Amino acid sequence: MSTFEYRDGRFFCEQAPIESIAERFGTPAYIYSRQRILDNFRRLVDAFRDVSSLICYSVKANSNLAILKLLREAGAGFDIVSGGELARVGRAGADPRTVVFSGVGKTASEIDAALRARILMFNVESAGELERIESRVRAASQCEPGGISIRINPNVAAETHPYISTGETIHKFGVTPGEALELYRRAAASPHLRVRGVACHIGSQILAVEPFLEALDEVLAVAEQLRSLGVTIQDVDMGGGFGIRYADEPALDLDRLAREFITRVRATPYRLLVEPGRAVVGDAGILVTRVLYVKQNPEKNFVITDAGMNDLMRPALYGSYHEIVAVGRRSEERVRADVVGPLCETADFLARDRDLPDVKPGELLAVLNAGAYGYVLASNYNTRPRPAEVLVDGEHAELVGRRESVEELMSRESA
Ligand code: LLP
Repeated sequence: MSTFEYRDGRFFCEQAPIESIAERFGTPAYIYSRQRILDNFRRLVDAFRDVSSLICYSVKANSNLAILKLLREAGAGFDIVSGGELARVGRAGADPRTVVFSGVGKTASEIDAALRARILMFNVESAGELERIESRVRAASQCEPGGISIRINPNVAAETHPYISTGETIHKFGVTPGEALELYRRAAASPHLRVRGVACHIGSQILAVEPFLEALDEVLAVAEQLRSLGVTIQDVDMGGGFGIRYADEPALDLDRLAREFITRVRATPYRLLVEPGRAVVGDAGILVTRVLYVKQNPEKNFVITDAGMNDLMRPALYGSYHEIVAVGRRSEERVRADVVGPLCETADFLARDRDLPDVKPGELLAVLNAGAYGYVLASNYNTRPRPAEVLVDGEHAELVGRRESVEELMSRESA
């Protein structure tokens, strides 16, 4: 049985009718399937089980505490990129030895908090950051050396949207393999740092296996050079980026990718880390929105919904495609329309020139594959409270993120 599907003309998440969830919690609302998240996570664990590995769920994809707790209980480690995400994984009960900290702009206080929490390692992205971590360890009394990996930029093209491609030299991420060796030399000589691994992340929503293999070969080459310098590492962290299907594009062959990774890593003494985000939560969430109005002009039909780019930014930001279905029926009659939100921006659309059922005001639409980079990218633009988040388990739907109120939004300001 699939997670989101029609039964007798009604759209369900697991055993819960979407219509009832929308009645109960209002719209717009993100609805997540517990089972689908777990199945996705277990599929990844399973794919890499023939090699020593740790799946560090990338918190940025969806950082709802209930989801973090679910994944922690299922055995996930975490990839974090801020002090805020560190606090979240702490709240979710994560074992700090399963937490890796990526990102090009870690502040001194974020570094301090991660050192206090005794995370597994920092994925270091520059010489300045390495120095900063070293000096924060030195400044703190009774602090263990900071575990580090250097994030290399392997100069591999990932064939994804340019805004989410990260592994080429034109990008701000990581350092060249040559510079990495220099940084490792420094780190190995410091009593305040402990070299743990080599890291890399080439981008997101990647559907081809080859770029990952090229990147792994680069990472293993650096590891090999480290060995000849007498620097031992334990972990190779290949980042995330495993793409999912949004439309009819060919799926990433995850099993092949895993087999190729395993073959290469098994020949080494290293543990393999991966940092999937989207592959865990992307297809496990939908955004449910109510149609407010429909209108036509001489050029186009518009379906105006109560969700906009403030709730789901991906279409506006990347021109991303998200399938949209009518919750109440599976009508054969199609109309071509733009699905747009209530915001005062032309970029405020969820879909353009889309063939949709001929929906009427009051009907519900579900925007599919919205579990990753959906709620986390939501904003309060136009003073719109961020939507509710609901986690479904079988027939049971639980509110795991209360809808914001306008009062709350204004409460931080003074006048
Ligand atoms: N590790 C690092 C260091 C990352 O920067 C990212 C994502 C991940 C792991 C997880 O990548 P994933 O497995 O989810 O592809 N907002 C964009 C995606 C930005 C991804 C940023 N980094 C979107 O909506 O498509």
